[in-house]
Amino acid sequence: MGIIQNLLKRKSPDELIAVSKKTELKKALNVFDLMIIGIGAVVGTGIFTIIGSAIRGGLEGAGAGSAVVISMILAAIACVFSALCYSEIAAMMPVAGSAYTYTYATMGEFMAWMVGWILMLEYAIGNITVASAWTGYLVQFLKGFKHILPDFIVNFPIWLRNDYRSILTMCSQNNLNPHDYMPYLFDKIPMAINLPAIFIVLVLTLLLIKGVKESTRFATIMVGVNMFMITSFIIVGAFYIKPENWTPFAPNGFEGVFMGAFLIFFAYIGFDAISTCAEETKNPQRDLPIGILGTLIFCTILYVLVALVLTGIVPLNNISTSAPIAAAMKYIGKDWFAGIISVGALCALTSVLLIYQLGTTRILYAMSRDRFLPKSFRVIHRKFRTPYALTWLAGIVVIICSLFMDLNISAELCNYGTFTSFIIICIAVLILRKTEPNRTRPFKVPLCPLFPILGILTCSALMFYSMKSLKTSSTYFPAWLLIGLAIYMFYGYRQKRLEDQGKKQ
Ligand code: ALA
Repeated sequence: MGIIQNLLKRKSPDELIAVSKKTELKKALNVFDLMIIGIGAVVGTGIFTIIGSAIRGGLEGAGAGSAVVISMILAAIACVFSALCYSEIAAMMPVAGSAYTYTYATMGEFMAWMVGWILMLEYAIGNITVASAWTGYLVQFLKGFKHILPDFIVNFPIWLRNDYRSILTMCSQNNLNPHDYMPYLFDKIPMAINLPAIFIVLVLTLLLIKGVKESTRFATIMVGVNMFMITSFIIVGAFYIKPENWTPFAPNGFEGVFMGAFLIFFAYIGFDAISTCAEETKNPQRDLPIGILGTLIFCTILYVLVALVLTGIVPLNNISTSAPIAAAMKYIGKDWFAGIISVGALCALTSVLLIYQLGTTRILYAMSRDRFLPKSFRVIHRKFRTPYALTWLAGIVVIICSLFMDLNISAELCNYGTFTSFIIICIAVLILRKTEPNRTRPFKVPLCPLFPILGILTCSALMFYSMKSLKTSSTYFPAWLLIGLAIYMFYGYRQKRLEDQGKKQ
């Protein structure tokens, strides 16, 4: 078979479903577990931190003000088209691997590899951002106990809780000497290790190896604590709302609302993680669409309520951009409650980390089952029946990258990966409607092809709008694609042919 034919070779949905039926992964998840995975993956850094910048604006963009509620609805609309498309395909082909697998069935081998590679931006690189943010909240939480805890715990050295780039940035912004803040090996190599981030990633790796059910049980507790904190914020805060804080409603007009929608989009990323667990779902045809759409609707309502309370109790210019929810409680004189909010934030970030690592391993598992990666990677733990080698790989990648990767850059790259995978999913629905018109679809995207096309347009608009101002990440993104292409050309393509041949003999 020629190279071009190999690159375009598709896997039939029947073949994918047949392979998944032989899966060794345990079918343990119901609709409740799926929604926990969804909410656990979605509610995190976005609503606890980024909401502040979406309201106030930053160096590169105007803020939405109280109209952030409109931004949230706009971002949710951009997501809902992709969510509908995810639901249609996931219910039709309940197999592991999410957008990667769906691309294999529609656009062939080469595009599938590239999508798998792009998904690593969303899941693995996104996890670097969340792990770094986790450390930030831990430090805030410890500061709340400064009267009880010894000083070396509350104020432990910044080179043990940051990557070196963050320390360099902090020093250059404040005209400080980096040599005073971190040790240098041979006076040349800066030493900085984000110890709390490494610790939490290691703990979660061990938990994920123990089992998917155990992991979702843990995520249930985290999501429960986090939901309790956010609901208490809404209820307590509602009594302190001053409607005059809502005016002017949109201080920067349309531009602020649109920029806010772009920023707050980060808060919605994650509902697609549900589809990575399709093979481990008991009744995927019914439960996947309910899980995906239910998560999106629930989070939109929650976010709008949080935004209304936050902008209602704190005047625009006093809203914090580092810890807005906790700072709002301090603003109304409830310091103790601000400390409790940090606990909620830590729980939220922990569940995002857990679910993203679960997603990374399940996509890599699907890629290695398709023989793009070495055979040794797809070993399943005898006792726990989880892909433990890949789980370790995913954990180690986050740990190594957290040593040198900048938090903001990894967040922006994560956004680009997500936009691209959403666009691909909308295209896949359009292709499958043509190539597999008679296949049973337990769930169908309404108004097709209009909705998938709107999904492609809204995601592309947000992506290209951001590329105008985010110069560094918009250079890194094509570089990431080129590295993926090189790995496929020099390793993945040959590895697949070799293993396919070995299988035939
Ligand atoms: N939506 C996830 C968060 O906000 C990525 O942390």
